[in-house]
Amino acid sequence: MPDKVGVAVVGVGFVGGAAHVPSFKKIEDSELIALCARTEKRVKPLAEQYQVKYYLDYDELLEDPKLDAVVLSVPTPLHYDSSMKAIKKGKHVLCEMPIAPKIEQVRELQKAAKQAGVLLMPVLNFRFAPIYLKVKEMIKAGTIGKPIAIHFREFIPAKSLAEQWPAGSWAWDIEKSGGYPDFTLSVWSLDMFRWMFESEISEVEWMVNYPRIEKYGGIYGYNTMGVIKFANGIVGSLHYGASVTPSASISRLEVYGDNTNVLHAINVDKILLYGADEKPQEFNLEVKGTRVWGHRQLDEHFIDCILHKKKPQVTVEDAITAQEIAQRIVKRIKK
Ligand SMILES: NC(=O)c1ccc[n+]([C@@H]2O[C@H](COP(=O)([O-])OP(=O)(O)OC[C@H]3O[C@@H](n4cnc5c(N)ncnc54)[C@H](O)[C@@H]3O)[C@@H](O)[C@H]2O)c1
Repeated sequence: MPDKVGVAVVGVGFVGGAAHVPSFKKIEDSELIALCARTEKRVKPLAEQYQVKYYLDYDELLEDPKLDAVVLSVPTPLHYDSSMKAIKKGKHVLCEMPIAPKIEQVRELQKAAKQAGVLLMPVLNFRFAPIYLKVKEMIKAGTIGKPIAIHFREFIPAKSLAEQWPAGSWAWDIEKSGGYPDFTLSVWSLDMFRWMFESEISEVEWMVNYPRIEKYGGIYGYNTMGVIKFANGIVGSLHYGASVTPSASISRLEVYGDNTNVLHAINVDKILLYGADEKPQEFNLEVKGTRVWGHRQLDEHFIDCILHKKKPQVTVEDAITAQEIAQRIVKRIKK
């Protein structure tokens, strides 16, 4: 392996173009050697902006002699084939979540990567997000005693959902995506909870309501609620929603402790600690760009694991666990 890992970002849409491309461009131990997409529309201007070549043919990219690793941010139905092809060519794979719509496919990829001696790592970036790292650090420091309960909500605007995944796109096809957008979009936080509370989610019950939103092309602005219990006794309620206006699109994690103190993590940069004082203590984080949701940190970690043969902090097993919990939503939809 040379000093730098030659990386190509495959799929330059919502997450590939906006997060992984700028992120890899800045990572010292990697060289962004190429971008790849199906059509020129988005990839050509991006390639010009970052001064990197682009391919419109994935098979051709895989023959590039400078290529060591691919970052797959194509739609989920393409993950299995694209990962398998790369693995068989001896390339490392950083794959967006869900790794594949079906758990059996994820296991096949896991086996193939092991046999080929390459790293297959999922993009479970919430564990690397500064806001959640800070909350975990505060819990570890004893600010709320032992966590006993959580509330979590994550809303994305109906408008954004319709732009990213319009009605009829792959994300609304259970076979292609593994679920619906709420299945896809819950995997990151479910993984983050397991990491934050160092315990498995042993029980989950989902309830769903799918209101049709005519003004955004008839997408379903899901409201998906979960009640969960961790093996260590923590109980929680989760609400994933995409039926709101942009001004209401917040994310908020509330953690209740057995010393009666409470932590609130709001969006990406504000933490409130409710303690003995009348007013909560406020912490504001200074994070910007691709570091906000942990993409840059996770991308750096991927490169570090390749160069120094480290075990990744997020594994395919973590991806499978998150997907299994999220997949129970699908059973609710079918009812
Ligand atoms: N980690 C995160 O924060 C995060 C956030 C959103 C989505 N995602 C995941 O990322 C993946 C992509 O989602 P998105 O919303 O960015 O999709 P998108 O539709 O915005 O972008 C997909 C990209 O893939 C390209 N593409 C499509 N077919 C291709 C092919 N055959 N060969 C090469 N390129 C091809 C498209 O041209 C486009 O550039 C999904 O698996 C999704 O679940 C991750």
